Amino acid sequence: MEQLMKDFFLFLSQNKTLTKAAKKWGLRFGAQRFVAGELTDDAVRVIRELNKQGLVVTIDYLGEFVETEQEANEKTEHSIATLEAIGREKLNSQLSLKMTSMGMDISDEVIMRNMRRILDTAKKYNIFVTIDMEDYSRYHKTLEIFKKLKSEYDNVGTVLQAYLYSVADDIQELNAYSPNLRLVKGAYKESPEVAFPEKKDVDENYKKIIKIHLLNGNYTAIASHDEAIIEYTKKLAEEHNIPKSQFEFQMLYGIRSDRHLELVKEGYTFRVYVPYGNDWYGYFMRRLAERPANVWFVLKGMFK
Ligand code: FDA
Repeated sequence: MEQLMKDFFLFLSQNKTLTKAAKKWGLRFGAQRFVAGELTDDAVRVIRELNKQGLVVTIDYLGEFVETEQEANEKTEHSIATLEAIGREKLNSQLSLKMTSMGMDISDEVIMRNMRRILDTAKKYNIFVTIDMEDYSRYHKTLEIFKKLKSEYDNVGTVLQAYLYSVADDIQELNAYSPNLRLVKGAYKESPEVAFPEKKDVDENYKKIIKIHLLNGNYTAIASHDEAIIEYTKKLAEEHNIPKSQFEFQMLYGIRSDRHLELVKEGYTFRVYVPYGNDWYGYFMRRLAERPANVWFVLKGMFK
């Protein structure tokens, strides 16, 4: 049943008609729990509140199914405006983005131009930018662009997904770039030809790549709500004398918020991934897919 619900929400997340319609509806169905708001001002307010509590942030201007150069340029402008707001308001926040929003599916020229514009602005304000990892069909392209950009900019990192069979080898290959990486389990529906279908295998592989990347001496963001993974990382760091300055924990806005503060109190850097913007539908559906128990928020939202 749980798997069925998961597949159902992942299926819904890819529906272009609903994605379009949701932009007009405004934040609904309990999506406010996971999305900071629709405007840059909403994002600034939420980042400031989190910063006050000792939490650092990575902000994401949401975007799905960008198909034209004009749309990609508009999304790029929004990300640049977000960076300007972080700089102007002196907030402690990085930026996260999806390269499909910036034109990765349109052409190499569009994506490279938009990414360089974003990274130039980010550099001006000393802001780090993480390229989120999308589905497997974009995996190799994302890594290829990341390597190119990393040789031009220090302030860029990306994400690797533990569910991929190849990830341990890929992380070793990337070691030549000493990259700052966010490690996650993986959020998309992938074929068993490329990704572990069983959760227990994903969890084991996740531990394996956390260990490889940390022992290679690279900065590592462990982005997971899974307590077993957090405990594993803490123990690993203790055993190998890995300083707290070499890694951080990350979780999504609205998920396990009490735990965010506890980890800060324990002396760890804790970063909250805060999405905002009117393109909230796909992101929201992926969160429901991760935890169908959250569906009752949707039902509550519908009857409000
Ligand atoms: P897992 O799914 O095993 O969950 C462990 C426990 O956490 C659950 O039992 C539950 O208690 C709690 N939990 C998990 N999800 C929840 C939810 N939605 N609501 C309430 N509780 C929940 N993926 C990707 O493919 N590319 C990317 O770029 C990113 N980026 C990213 C950034 C950050 C900061 C985070 C935290 C995650 C991502 N992800 C991602 C998503 C990631 O791949 C994965 O899908 C989710 O984090 C869920 O996996 P967990 O590691 O949390 O464990």
